[in-house]
Amino acid sequence: MTIEDPRIETLRQLREQVRLGGGLDRIHQQHAKGKLTARERLDLLLDEGTFNELEPFITNQADEMGLIKDEFFGDGVVTGYGQINGRTVYVYAQDFTVLGGTLSSMQSRKICRVMDLAARNGVPIVGLIDSGGARIQEGVKSLGGYAEIFRRNAQYSGVIPQISVMLGPCAGGAAYSPALTDLIIMVEKKSFMFLTGPEVIRAVTGENVDAESLGGAEIHMAITGTSHLNAKSEEEALALVRYVLSYFPSNNVENPPFIPSSDDPRRMEEELNGIVPLDPTLPYDMHKVIKLVVDNQEFLEIQSGWARNAIVGFARIGGFSVGVVAQEPSELAGVIDIDASDKIARFVRLCDCFNIPIITFVDSPGFLPGIDQEHGGIIRHGAKVLYAYSEATVPKITIITRKAYGGAYIVMSSKYLGTDVTYAWPSAEIAVMGAEGAVNIIFRKKIESSPHPDEERQILIDQYRSQFNNPYHAAKSGYVDDIIEPRETRLKIIASLGALRDKFTASPPRKHGNIPM
Ligand code: HXC
Repeated sequence: MTIEDPRIETLRQLREQVRLGGGLDRIHQQHAKGKLTARERLDLLLDEGTFNELEPFITNQADEMGLIKDEFFGDGVVTGYGQINGRTVYVYAQDFTVLGGTLSSMQSRKICRVMDLAARNGVPIVGLIDSGGARIQEGVKSLGGYAEIFRRNAQYSGVIPQISVMLGPCAGGAAYSPALTDLIIMVEKKSFMFLTGPEVIRAVTGENVDAESLGGAEIHMAITGTSHLNAKSEEEALALVRYVLSYFPSNNVENPPFIPSSDDPRRMEEELNGIVPLDPTLPYDMHKVIKLVVDNQEFLEIQSGWARNAIVGFARIGGFSVGVVAQEPSELAGVIDIDASDKIARFVRLCDCFNIPIITFVDSPGFLPGIDQEHGGIIRHGAKVLYAYSEATVPKITIITRKAYGGAYIVMSSKYLGTDVTYAWPSAEIAVMGAEGAVNIIFRKKIESSPHPDEERQILIDQYRSQFNNPYHAAKSGYVDDIIEPRETRLKIIASLGALRDKFTASPPRKHGNIPM
């Protein structure tokens, strides 16, 4: 019989202390707020039994003010690695039960260590955030700790997927780490993000606001565009991490996972042949178009509540992971405005970083006119879309379903921005601008000198429409690759994705480009 080394029992006791974080009372307080602990969250996030903790015995160092008397294992963050759907990820989960999950120099070191290991091994990093921000008692050390994290967020951007899950407060400059990552997932009524909280705002500007209305999940989904996905519960948020990662490769030199689909790759979708109204002023549902094309109608929309005139999200088509970009003609007629530009450009770059082909559905009358938009910098923001599509080297496939007027035609992944395949539906209208605007400009004198200006205008509009508001003149000059029946869209995209699977492009060497910001 083996006589156990008594030091093993000591280890077990210490491990139990590690597991309890800030202690049972704090755990009860966390539960009373309807929140899970860091370890409970990691259990939900990772495949069962795959979590391996790192540096659990690190403790908080004495703060300069000598205010923190207790020593806590882990120093407010649980770090390590595990698996999601059989693929390795590195994780960190801030532990609010220890000093409010605040960031100290040691906590920063732990987080930076898993970030470095994730980058070195080419796997995603997922951060579960629940913290009061920089630990005030540590002064500049905690600020330096954040700087170390931000630098890594930037350096590893486009190398490994970085996902931030907001499960509690994220106040002050701390909000910049999630903002630097690829995707932010927030929990409704449980998480909030702001640079200056309600108290500071009240003191500085006199405005009264509560945390939820200042930086809750709904605000960041509908108004600021900061949250990419909102969840109703922590469980749902963690399940979303697992789901969204299924569209991503582990790093920038891998391809995203190909998952053979039960949906017939040759499926013709008859409903699409009647989806675009004959009257070009009537809207239709682009979300429905997307769902009818992709595998099993499964579309994970990102930033669904913000800039709703633009749609971005992930899907599979014939088993290939793709990023979908589109206009929603039912929202502001699908115009491109400042927010839509930012939304599309960032998503295109996200897909391009991680070798995810981009499918673009175009139906836009153009950029939104107006003093607000011009003075708000629509030139600068719209340029981001041009830059992002031009720079992207992943397979790019465009389907013009209806309007592709002027700037909208060009910026939305048009053929000569380097798009690999451009299809148009017979309902496509490709022109510098809509018939009425065009006729008023180019035939102004003719209309003014006509004895019957209104009839003259209408005749000219009809002529313009029959000449330009169709895809045939663009196809004749080679500006679209083919005109297809809408019901063929799925199989045409799948064939293109197969043909572009080994796409290779070379760009001139440079340090990095200078995207308009
Ligand atoms: C030290 C902090 C702290 C902080 C919270 N705590 N924030 N300790 N530094 N920044 C401590 C509390 O004193 C408390 O300890 C414990 O954490 C739990 O906090 P509570 O206030 O009891 O919890 P709750 O009511 O849920 O409120 C959580 C909170 C609130 C909303 C996060 O604590 C808060 O507003 N904190 C300050 C947030 C903030 O302004 N952070 C910005 C810091 S500056 P005890 O022992 O009393 O229970 C910053 C700059 C970073 O982050 C710059 C990077 C560029």
